[in-house]
Amino acid sequence: MPDFALKTPAIRMAPSLLSVDFGNAERGVAAIEEAGATILHLDVMDGHFVPNISFGAPIIKSLRKCSKMYFDAHLMIEEPKKYAESFVEAGCDLITFHIEVAKDPAAIVDHIHSLGASVGVSLNPTTPASSIDTIIEKVDMVLVMSVWPGFGGQKFIADVLPKVTEIKKRLGPHQRLQIDGGIDPNTIASAAAAGADTFVAGTAIFRQDDPPAAMKNLQNLAEAAITGVS
Ligand code: DX5
Ligand code: ZN
Repeated sequence: MPDFALKTPAIRMAPSLLSVDFGNAERGVAAIEEAGATILHLDVMDGHFVPNISFGAPIIKSLRKCSKMYFDAHLMIEEPKKYAESFVEAGCDLITFHIEVAKDPAAIVDHIHSLGASVGVSLNPTTPASSIDTIIEKVDMVLVMSVWPGFGGQKFIADVLPKVTEIKKRLGPHQRLQIDGGIDPNTIASAAAAGADTFVAGTAIFRQDDPPAAMKNLQNLAEAAITGVS
């Protein structure tokens, strides 16, 4: 299992299972893993926090048996503290919760850490960076949403990029900064230049004719954006 906290590689892709062909999910996951993906992003939706329902712990548990990737669960649910344990038991390595639903964010972070998983905190597009002031030093990852959560295939909201840069400045060497939503060949460079280092992409990987090639192309574009080489 790769150590998520490591700052190398500087750029990491996190393909989102949400856009896989679920009838052939195992094959889709294997293809990107063989192509070098180390993170699988798992979008869990409860139909309350977001207006959509996706999948839960049983599906993740099944996939856990056929993949060694780092399982990154993005919980778009109203009660992350209540359900975190079932996702860790299903094999998730990192649990991300939304700050918008957290009455006591520090308690949620501590609870997930006590389960032995890493912790991410996510901010919706208009949620300010200051909303995570009290826990930013405790989390392993910050996830900035670049679409309104709930659906794949939406248009990238570039207005979030200043927030990405603002948060990046406040993160330590072992914390990662993920961006999620509308990441594609036209948007990934701007997100990388703003400071994101971990890129979720669903449509732009799994809905392409050649998902491994699409993923590698995105990775190359992000790397070029931070090294100035194109
Ligand atoms: C949206 C999810 C995303 C989604 C991204 O609520 O959090 O992870 O899968 O999909 P694309 O890459 O298609 O925007
Ligand atoms: Zn997501």
